[in-house]
Amino acid sequence: MSGTREGGWYPLMLSADLEPGTVAGSTVLGRDLAVRRDREGQAHVWDDRCPHRGMRLSLGFVREGALACLYHGWRFGADGRCVHIPAHPDLSPPGTIRAAPLRVAECHGLVWASVEEDGPLPEVDAVAWVPVRSLRIEAPWQDVARAVGVPDGHRAAVLDRDVEGRVLAALLPVREGACMLHLLAAASAGVERLHDLADWGQDVRARAEERAGQVFLAGVVA
Ligand code: FES
Repeated sequence: MSGTREGGWYPLMLSADLEPGTVAGSTVLGRDLAVRRDREGQAHVWDDRCPHRGMRLSLGFVREGALACLYHGWRFGADGRCVHIPAHPDLSPPGTIRAAPLRVAECHGLVWASVEEDGPLPEVDAVAWVPVRSLRIEAPWQDVARAVGVPDGHRAAVLDRDVEGRVLAALLPVREGACMLHLLAAASAGVERLHDLADWGQDVRARAEERAGQVFLAGVVA
């Protein structure tokens, strides 16, 4: 994948962090998303806003295979359509009541969502990746990309950090000045190697946040 384009696709989270029958929250460029995996293992991504009164769907729960909103319990099926309204149990909800879905793909051990209709899918290579960790970093994603060695203009790259094996680093711009760094290792990596990479990720975070703090202070003093 190194040197390829990701189009409008963003790496939301490690696949391993999304259990079947659960929902989690994510944010891309300030846009809040609900990320759900159904019991069959398929991931779904919707805007994190209930079509009824705007409650965060990521705070909901899975009931009878559908995602139930925490507020009034409206339930939404895999395609985002409302399938049940508890206050009107005999009503068949109109198809227009629907959580707004995004395109979703799963590859390289990551759940990706597209915020651009026509963006190409991320390319898939034959390497199997194992998750190391995800870190939230309070620093601009471009600075973190440079610090870990992701080429300019890309959000993910395979890095040959050292002789022990390759690392996949993927960056999610959360909002201005904050990002998520996802790290994965080649499946052949041993436990010690995974611990080393997790420590490296923490070092990257510490340095990036220190630098961001210095830049902020320099701006305040100036
Ligand atoms: S706000 Fe979601 S069911 Fe009412």
